Amino acid sequence: MKLVFATHNKNKWREVQSMLPEGIKIITLEDIGCLAEIPETASTIEGNALQKAKYIKEKYGYDTFADDTGLEVKALGNAPGVYSARYAGEAKDNEANIDLLLANMQGKEDREAQFKTIFALCLGEKSYSFEGIIRGQITHHRQGTEGFGYDPVFLPEKEERTFAQMSAQEKNQISHRAIALRKLVDFLNSEVEK
Ligand code: IMP
Repeated sequence: MKLVFATHNKNKWREVQSMLPEGIKIITLEDIGCLAEIPETASTIEGNALQKAKYIKEKYGYDTFADDTGLEVKALGNAPGVYSARYAGEAKDNEANIDLLLANMQGKEDREAQFKTIFALCLGEKSYSFEGIIRGQITHHRQGTEGFGYDPVFLPEKEERTFAQMSAQEKNQISHRAIALRKLVDFLNSEVEK
């Protein structure tokens, strides 16, 4: 089985490729000649993932999967959510995003939050989605230097270290993306066996 993974992010691509079984090969956007940004204009994480997968399927004809992730903070009405990448503006600046998040969380006792990833898959005529959630807390200040995005201020449930204090391997065992990806892989394995 050959599938396009609709991302320009090389780190994500490597992470996903390393988790896929041998029978499933992923093709890059570069391989199919898609160098442009893929539109992400939906108002939900699910909508964005599906929009990206559908865009490639419709434009290039390949079976495709795509992911979208957001950080949902309870005390902020689930913001930044689908707007996580551009929370502090179009520059998509991780440090500015964290600064704004910590400022908006000042004085809030309820620090509950969750990361949510959706993998959407367009296979043949059908589309599917797979969800991964990890709950945790927003810390009061940055801790750790590993990872990316909001990792330095996200303390996963039952853990004593933020994502940014874990190695990539440790994070990838428990992360929202890993949970959603395992569901996608289980589904693809069952399709390959059919
Ligand atoms: P994307 O949908 O994977 O591009 O993620 C949207 C935004 O969520 C990114 O710009 C990051 O700021 C944040 N994000 C996604 N995944 C993670 C993660 O695993 N840790 C921390 N932040 C993340």
